[in-house]
Amino acid sequence: MYAINYALRAHKRDPFIEFIKGMLMTPFVLHAKPLPQSDDPNERDDEHHMDANVVRYCNILSSIEELINEHIRKQDKGVPDQSRLKRLVPSISTFHTQLPLRESFLLANAKHSIAARRFVPPSFNDIRRILNTAQIIAIAPKLKLITFDGDMTLYGDGKDFEHDSGLVKLLVELLEYDLYVCVVTAAGYPGDATRYEQRLSGLLKGFENARLPKSVCGRFFVLGGECNYLFQCQEDYHLKYIPESEYQPQEILSWSSDQINAILDIAQGNLQRCVDDMKLPCTILRKSKAVGIVPEPNVKIFREELDECVLSTQHRIVNFLNSPRGKESYLPFCAFNGGNDVWVDIGNKLIGVQVLQKFLGAKPKETLHVGDQFLSTGNDFATRHQCCTLWIVNPDETQDVLVELTTLLKAKKPERSIELKSLS
Ligand code: IMP
Ligand code: MG
Repeated sequence: MYAINYALRAHKRDPFIEFIKGMLMTPFVLHAKPLPQSDDPNERDDEHHMDANVVRYCNILSSIEELINEHIRKQDKGVPDQSRLKRLVPSISTFHTQLPLRESFLLANAKHSIAARRFVPPSFNDIRRILNTAQIIAIAPKLKLITFDGDMTLYGDGKDFEHDSGLVKLLVELLEYDLYVCVVTAAGYPGDATRYEQRLSGLLKGFENARLPKSVCGRFFVLGGECNYLFQCQEDYHLKYIPESEYQPQEILSWSSDQINAILDIAQGNLQRCVDDMKLPCTILRKSKAVGIVPEPNVKIFREELDECVLSTQHRIVNFLNSPRGKESYLPFCAFNGGNDVWVDIGNKLIGVQVLQKFLGAKPKETLHVGDQFLSTGNDFATRHQCCTLWIVNPDETQDVLVELTTLLKAKKPERSIELKSLS
C-alpha cells in the first residue's frame, strides 16, 4: 500500500520540501508545549522557551544547509549521486547556489511566528517561502537574467497583464538594475507579436508611461510556446519577432514537422480518449507545435481529471517514443496541467531558459526563474535543472518576492556593479 500510495501521490508532492518539513517536526512535536491551563505565572511559558525553539529550528536548517553544501561539492566533482542528500532525497536535482536557510527562517519567523506556534507546525507553504527567500538572498549579488512564467505568475489564468498591477513598477526597477527580464510562457501564438502584446498590454503601457529608453526596454524579451517564439521590446514599446535562425541552436532548428506531428498525433489521440472517457466538457485545440484541451466557458475541471489527462498522455507519448516506430520522432516535449487546461507542447522551459542563457550570456547561477507550476505535472518544473527558481502561487506572491529582491538589489548596488563589471 505504501508503494502504491507513493506512486499515486508523487506528482502532488515536492520531496525536498517534505524532507525539510519532516525534520522540523521534531522541535514542534517535542518542544512546542501546549499552553498552560493555570494562571500561575511560574507555569506560563517564558521568553526563554520561545528562544530555545527558534534555536532548535535554526540548528536543523543550518544542518540542511551543510547537506546542500556537501551536495554542491559532489556536484562540482561530477559525482552528485554520492552526496548524503541524494541518499536522503533521491529525487534531488542540481543546486546552482548555496541556500542560507537559517537566515531566511529568521526573517520568516519574524513575520509568521513559526517557532511560537503550538498547534500548526511549519507547513509546506512556510518552507516553500523560506526556500524562496534563501534563494533571493543567495542570487541577488550575481543575478543577470530573471525569467517569469506568465499565467498565474504575472497575471491570472488566461487573463492579460493588468494596467494597475503593482508588478509594473517592480519589473521596470529590475530592468533599470541592468537585468535581462524575460517572460517564458507556454502560451504559443506562432510569430504573432500582437497577441503577446495584448496579453502583456498593462506592462508595455507601463514601460511607455515610464518613458523607458531603448537601452532599458530592449532588455525585455518574451519567449512563447515554452522555447519556440522569441520577441524583443522595441523603443516604440512594441514587441519584435526575432527569427529562429538568430538564436536557436542547430538541434532545435532541425526539428522536422513529421517528428512534431507524430508526437502531437499521439497526444491528441490520448487527450480525445480522456475527454470521451471522463465526459469532460472541453474542446481540443491543435496548433503547429502544441495540442491542448480547453474547457468550455465558465467550466472548472477538477485537478484530479486534469492530472489524469497529463499523466496518461505523458505515459502514452513516452511509450510511443520508446517503440521502434517512435524512436525517429524523439523530441523534447512537455505535457502539463495549466490549472484549468492541459497542454502538450513540443519543447519545454528547460530548453527555453537554456536558449536565453546562451543568447544573453548568463550562467545557471546568474539566472532565476519565477513560476507557479513546480510540481512534476507542471511546466515550470523543467527549469530547475538549468537555473535557480522561486516557486510562487499567484501574482501577489510574485510581487512579494520582487519586493524582497529589489530591496536587496538596491542595498547591494555598488557590490553588484563591481561583480558584473569583472564578469563582463
Ligand atoms: P504559462 O503559465 O505562462 O506557462 O502559460 C500556460 C497557459 O498558457 C496554459 O495553461 C494555457 O492556458 C495557455 N496556453 C495558450 N496557448 C498555449 C499553448 O500553445 N501551449 C500551452 N499553453 C498554452
Ligand atoms: Mg503558470
